[in-house]
Amino acid sequence: MPLPTHVRIVEVGPRDGLQNEAQPISVTDKVQLVDALTAAGLGYIEVGSFVSPKWVPQMAGSADVFAQIQRKPGVVYGALAPNLRGFEDALAAGVKEVAVFAAASEAFSRRNINCSISESLERFAPIMDAAKQHGITVRGYVSCVLGCPYEGNVSPEQVALVARELYAMGCYEVSLGDTIGTGTAGATRKMFEVVSKDVPREKLAGHFHDTYGQAVANIYASLLEGISVFDSSIAGLGGCPYAKGASGNVATEDVVYLLNGLGIDTGIDLDALMIAGQQICTVLGRPTGSRVARARSAQ
Ligand code: HMG
Ligand code: MG
Repeated sequence: MPLPTHVRIVEVGPRDGLQNEAQPISVTDKVQLVDALTAAGLGYIEVGSFVSPKWVPQMAGSADVFAQIQRKPGVVYGALAPNLRGFEDALAAGVKEVAVFAAASEAFSRRNINCSISESLERFAPIMDAAKQHGITVRGYVSCVLGCPYEGNVSPEQVALVARELYAMGCYEVSLGDTIGTGTAGATRKMFEVVSKDVPREKLAGHFHDTYGQAVANIYASLLEGISVFDSSIAGLGGCPYAKGASGNVATEDVVYLLNGLGIDTGIDLDALMIAGQQICTVLGRPTGSRVARARSAQ
């Protein structure tokens, strides 16, 4: 399969990247991050979550962040919504695209959203109806596609089952998440090969956490499988509060560097991206998780 000429990057840093941070991060700092990412040319930024603040306290100020960001026409500013309540709050905050999130493993579903996989899908049905009514687009996530922190192995067939349901209920794209970053290039190819029998490849995205350092290899493997949308996080920030020890997403800087090297267009300015990464790392008082940013700043 030929490599794509263009890749769409979904920047999840302000959400997936920051949701696990224990230290308080001000709305102003979050807004500055989103605006810097907009300036770097990202076409899609996941800004926050409308989830229970008892479950994920860091995302509690998401409505305020949405109220203050500078929205650039053509850029999608998305948010997670686990239930109708979350959807309604997102709508009130002026969100035009939400993401629902399910898991390929029962145990992770329970830990993350306190219900079974089938109950979660039932919960999403009214979101899909309300979204249609309000002209809101819905993206779907499946977690634990290459392994679960509680159940271990997850079969590609189980991933396909959940992805198919999300697609059938109206998600325009389904992002497949290696939540704990244990996946390898071979397993990634196999997984996309199986899932794409049920959901077209152009409707699938890859979401790789870099816990085992495999994310860039897994993205390359996905490109070979005809996948052309990838989620990543500025400076490699993040981790899931319900997957202990899981580190951040693959760094956006590293993905852009990979794609630049392959001559694949992303519309993103790597230098401006590095500035966004430096700013948020200063706020967090922590070195970047991006290998590219580290190498560049050492020069
Ligand atoms: P629950 O406790 O079963 O829900 O949580 P409930 O309906 O019984 O409500 C409990 C309380 O939460 C009530 O408040 C509700 O009003 C409130 P109380 O009466 O106790 O004061 N509540 C809400 N508040 C604000 N916004 C809402 C909302 N819903 C209920 N939307 C629930 C169920 C789904 C709400 C909870 O489990 C939850 O919020 N989970 C979110 C977990 C999460 O955000 N995880 C991280 C994102 S997923 C991820 O990172 C993976 C991904 O990156 C892909 C990958 O890497 O694999 C996407
Ligand atoms: Mg994630």
